[in-house]
Amino acid sequence: MTESNDLIHRTEALVRQRLAGEATGHDWYHTDRVRYLALRIAADEQIAGAEVNRLTVELAALLHDIEDWKFHKGDDSVGPRAAAAWLGVHGVDPDLIDHVAEIIATMSFKGAGVSTPMRTIEGQIVQDADRLEALGAIGIARSFAYGGFKGQMIHDPEITPAMHESFEAYKTAGGTTINHFSEKLLLLRDRMNTETGRRIAAHRHQFMESFLAEFFAEWEGKA
Ligand code: ADP
Ligand code: NI
Repeated sequence: MTESNDLIHRTEALVRQRLAGEATGHDWYHTDRVRYLALRIAADEQIAGAEVNRLTVELAALLHDIEDWKFHKGDDSVGPRAAAAWLGVHGVDPDLIDHVAEIIATMSFKGAGVSTPMRTIEGQIVQDADRLEALGAIGIARSFAYGGFKGQMIHDPEITPAMHESFEAYKTAGGTTINHFSEKLLLLRDRMNTETGRRIAAHRHQFMESFLAEFFAEWEGKA
């Protein structure tokens, strides 16, 4: 098998090149921040006594958005397969490959009424890191970038938020970006898996609440 460090560097180069210039919030810097957050959470979990395989965490974080997801939205097998194929070429242990592919396959938010449990601590860590990226100032920026890409309105008072009961309903909904806050972003704080994730999410959640308060004050001509 390729040396761990070498594998990380090669994977990093692949992802950098694949996601360069991506305009909807899934660019290389997003992946790099997910990796950083995930390793930070992993370190805290280890201090708290958990056994964490850091190589699994780092590889899953690096590869989680590897496929050009815009063209495969809804087919959640494409990303895990591409990640597995890449790791396979480098002679990575099949159990590690399966674990990374499983994490990538089960990470995403799929609607307010759909539970997305993570089986392993490594998966819980990477899921928290990716979800933190949907929160706070960066989360707000990413949501409007994605909303613009999807052709959504910023806000329309006549369209009310919906609590989606299935992935199908969630991914085909033609909502607004402001509604995306109630439909997903404000729900994430209570779905974090780890203590560190919960702490960072609480701070970012509060910032989004302030943003929304200011947004509506301006909308109503009160600010
Ligand atoms: P995940 O990271 O759970 O797989 P996505 O890839 O769908 O989720 O989301 C990536 C980013 O785009 C996140 O910041 C997310 O909140 C945002 N996003 C997803 N769907 C919408 C939407 N309908 N409107 C605005 N932003 C969205
Ligand atoms: Ni992501």
